[in-house]
Amino acid sequence: MFIKQNIYLVLIFLSKQFWFSTAQYEKWSNKEYENDKYSFSKPIQIGLITDQYSEEMGIIFEHAIEVANGELKIPLEATKEEVNYGDSFQAYGILCKLLQNGVGGIFGPSSKHTARHLTTICDAKDVPYFFSEMNENPEAFNLYPHPMDFSKALYFLLTTYKWSRFIFLYESVEYLNILNGLQSLYGNNSTTITVLRYDIEMNNNYKSVLRRVKKSGDNCIVVTGSSDTMPEFLKQAQQVGIINKDYKYIIANLDFHAFDLEEYKYTEANITSFRLFSPEQKAVQEILEKMGQKSSSENLRNGSCPITVSMALTYDSVQLFAETTKHLRVRNVPLNCSDRSESVLDDGSTFKNYMRTLKLAKRTLTGPIYFDGNVRKGYALDIIELHPSGIMKIGTWNDYSNLTIQRVAQTNSVIDNVDNSLVNQTFTILLNVPNEPYASLVESFEKLEGNSQYHGYGVDLIKELAQKLGFNYVLKNGGNDYGSYNATTNTTTGMLKEIIDKRAHLAITDLTITAARQEVVDFSIPFMNLGIAIIHVEPQKETQAYFKFMDPFSNGVWWLLGLSFLLVSFSFFILGRLSPSEWDNPHPCIEEPTELVNQFTIGNSLWFTTGALLQQGSEMEPKAISTRTVASIWWFFTLLMVSSYTANLAAFLTIEKPTILINSIDDLVEHKHGVVYGAKKMGSTREFFEKSEDSRYKKMNKFMNEHPEYLTETNMDGVKRVSMTYAFLMESTSIEYHTMRMCNLSKIGNTLDEKGYGIAMRKNWEFRDKFNNALLELQEQGTLEKMKNKWWNEMGAGICTSGKQRSEETELQMKNLIGIYIVLGVGSGLAFVYGIVSWFFYIRTKAKHYHLSMKEVFLEEFKFALDFNSHTRILKNTASIYSRGRNSLPTDSSKEEQKSLQH
Ligand SMILES: *[C@@H]1O[C@H](CO)[C@@H](O)[C@H](O)[C@H]1NC(C)=O
Ligand SMILES: *[C@@H]1O[C@H](CO)[C@@H](O)[C@H](O)[C@H]1NC(C)=O
Ligand SMILES: *[C@@H]1O[C@H](CO)[C@@H](O)[C@H](O)[C@H]1NC(C)=O
Ligand SMILES: *[C@@H]1O[C@H](CO)[C@@H](O)[C@H](O)[C@H]1NC(C)=O
Ligand SMILES: *[C@@H]1O[C@H](CO)[C@@H](O)[C@H](O)[C@H]1NC(C)=O
Ligand SMILES: *[C@@H]1O[C@H](CO)[C@@H](O)[C@H](O)[C@H]1NC(C)=O
Ligand SMILES: *[C@@H]1O[C@H](CO)[C@@H](O)[C@H](O)[C@H]1NC(C)=O
Ligand SMILES: *[C@@H]1O[C@H](CO)[C@@H](O)[C@H](O)[C@H]1NC(C)=O
Repeated sequence: MFIKQNIYLVLIFLSKQFWFSTAQYEKWSNKEYENDKYSFSKPIQIGLITDQYSEEMGIIFEHAIEVANGELKIPLEATKEEVNYGDSFQAYGILCKLLQNGVGGIFGPSSKHTARHLTTICDAKDVPYFFSEMNENPEAFNLYPHPMDFSKALYFLLTTYKWSRFIFLYESVEYLNILNGLQSLYGNNSTTITVLRYDIEMNNNYKSVLRRVKKSGDNCIVVTGSSDTMPEFLKQAQQVGIINKDYKYIIANLDFHAFDLEEYKYTEANITSFRLFSPEQKAVQEILEKMGQKSSSENLRNGSCPITVSMALTYDSVQLFAETTKHLRVRNVPLNCSDRSESVLDDGSTFKNYMRTLKLAKRTLTGPIYFDGNVRKGYALDIIELHPSGIMKIGTWNDYSNLTIQRVAQTNSVIDNVDNSLVNQTFTILLNVPNEPYASLVESFEKLEGNSQYHGYGVDLIKELAQKLGFNYVLKNGGNDYGSYNATTNTTTGMLKEIIDKRAHLAITDLTITAARQEVVDFSIPFMNLGIAIIHVEPQKETQAYFKFMDPFSNGVWWLLGLSFLLVSFSFFILGRLSPSEWDNPHPCIEEPTELVNQFTIGNSLWFTTGALLQQGSEMEPKAISTRTVASIWWFFTLLMVSSYTANLAAFLTIEKPTILINSIDDLVEHKHGVVYGAKKMGSTREFFEKSEDSRYKKMNKFMNEHPEYLTETNMDGVKRVSMTYAFLMESTSIEYHTMRMCNLSKIGNTLDEKGYGIAMRKNWEFRDKFNNALLELQEQGTLEKMKNKWWNEMGAGICTSGKQRSEETELQMKNLIGIYIVLGVGSGLAFVYGIVSWFFYIRTKAKHYHLSMKEVFLEEFKFALDFNSHTRILKNTASIYSRGRNSLPTDSSKEEQKSLQH
């Protein structure tokens, strides 16, 4: 049977080539009259033979005819037949049946073997035969891109991707055409292509090949094969574990959009493919509606589009056929398969030749159609990539302009790019220049333009945000006026006005978030936290240190020391007079002294105390218990005092203590040391004092209102003005910045309040949440901290880092030494009490001895004790009451008396 067909084919071929002019013409004229009964106005039958997706194919075929008929005088009419896949014999029978009924064209099944078979028959009968799968059969009308063209598209994609080494996986021999094309395009250029056939055993198990791919270590893979095996291939590749972020695929199949891609969307594998038509176009949507599929274009991005490329091409083939019937008449002539020479479709070849010269641009799904020889041209291939959000078109290829990639910017985040509306946006961003460290001009020998002319913390921050969110930006100097809102006049000024009037999107500088500003603009979460603080001169080293030795003790200690000294000296004096043991014989050689002398005169008492205090001797020796006690206590006291003094003096002499003019905000309020203060004229610092309820701050506000000469235009002016008598109030972050660079300045005290710098944006701006999230991320990653460190402590800083620590030593206060004083006080007190008591005993004994009354003796002794001028006691004094007494004259007794009274 096959041989018969071939002989037949050869005969027909010969007849076509050599006898066309005569024989054909004869036939034409003969048949025309004969077949008149086949009226021209009758619908033209076209036949569809399907072996796969018959239902969808049928719907598309009907729909294509319906669309075409809208433009035709003689309508087309469909005849649909179904055959088993690959059953050529059955297909042959059906074709013959169709031919018998008379058809103008045949749209064939997808099986290549069947198609080849049917092509020969149709060709013999001069019936146009349309085929919509990839092959190189020149006789059929095939709108499918030629393998060579496909190779070109693939080649340009591979060179764009710069793959110099990849694995070429193909399903069966016919796909080697693509490889051949590639190799001829590469020429001598060194590209390593490993070629593997994935369907070796034809049992739908590709895993052994896939495992080899995995082991090979190559990660760039080009896959080409039929649409039937490709989904299974992808599935098995995933099972083997080679669809992940390490692998890159190019799927050289035009039905990629029809596969179920849901499982591969999130694999992070880089999968690129091609498509011949976009499922999102209107004509496709109409077909989908006809099929009863209510797929929105969004869903089609996940793949699983029910319209395969061969369906789309069948649709286009119908349009091409219809277009040709507009120009050439076609009659439905019954043809007999077995009839060898006679029954050929009248003017069939003319029809076919005409069709090859047509250019059709309307009503097609796959773009314009025209032929270059037998090869269909005019289409464009979309380059598509699989993303978590679905299929994305990233470029196109066509014959003229080769490959163009129009990739849209992608963000790193896998989840985020579903509605990444920030991508492709351009924002205008206001800075205050120069305003170090937030923004300043880059110093450069060449003139810089655009964003590159600025640098600083704010510029870095916006760069980080742009990288995270994928937007573009234009930096603009917004000036020194950050803006404020006046509720009474309903006006806004400065940067805020620029934002409200939509001349800018964002303002990034040291812009404080305040309630007043928040009425007209929105702020992001703060990117920096701070408060108002005082900047003043670094505490100065003391210049005149003449009395430095006084420093170890506080004034109170010194005063009390002096007082103790006097009191103790006085105690010696009193106790000395009161205790008889202190009255001594001035001339030890004279047995019976006439007078006794007391060593504790006022001068001697002071001298004794001084000697002890300075740790020197004084050649005086207390004899009475009371004076000895006081002396011991005093020695102990001086021991401790002198040790403390010495120890502290060493510290004071080695570390020079700076004088601190002001220590806190309270010192400022009191103008301690005559220090005045000011702030920036307009801004949130002034605002803070104006609004504050705290009495101290109210007082400061009053002062600043009364003395506008202390206010400055900018913070920098204020910082320059700081001196011994002028302190400046501003934000702690700026203070930190300046004190790192001006070593004579320092921050005083803690911050007065808590606030933050934020990014200002229009009210209810749609991207606000995105910015906040990005800022939070930057904060959590420590990027903000790193940036602050860079601009504060690294760029142009580092000169004042050493010697910043304050000396910690302080003078010894009363509270440190009070214990020593207590010991001294109590000890001396007890000694004094003892002295008085023993004095009374002495009076009593003396009264007994002289037989005088206690009162008389007491008065006599008291009088004598109070006579501070006399330090000698005349023993044989006639004026004395003792001379009138009974035992007034025993000469020896005075010595005895002396002895007995001493103890
Ligand atoms: C896929 O890989 C190519 C290079 O092989 C690269 O140009 C492209 O950007 C990648 N696509 C994605 C989404 O990463
Ligand atoms: C070979 O590579 C070079 C540079 O890489 C390129 O300029 C040239 O066009 C390539 N030749 C072919 C035949 O691809
Ligand atoms: C390829 O290589 C051959 C020999 O190495 C050389 O003769 C030929 O010119 C080369 N072709 C191209 C396109 O570089
Ligand atoms: C496509 O993907 C989106 C989100 O990825 C999902 O909401 C939608 O249901 C998917 N559509 C289909 C047809 O699977
Ligand atoms: C496309 O590629 C071909 C072959 O490399 C080249 O001759 C042609 O100039 C290219 N066209 C464009 C627009 O780049
Ligand atoms: C990005 O901008 C270009 C040019 O302005 C535009 O053609 C493209 O559609 C935009 N893409 C997105 C995703 O908005
Ligand atoms: C608002 O503007 C009015 C008129 O210029 C002025 O009197 C008032 O002091 C302003 N208010 C504030 C809070 O600046
Ligand atoms: C303030 O002015 C703006 C327009 O400039 C207006 O939309 C708004 O309603 C005004 N607000 C008040 C409180 O008058």
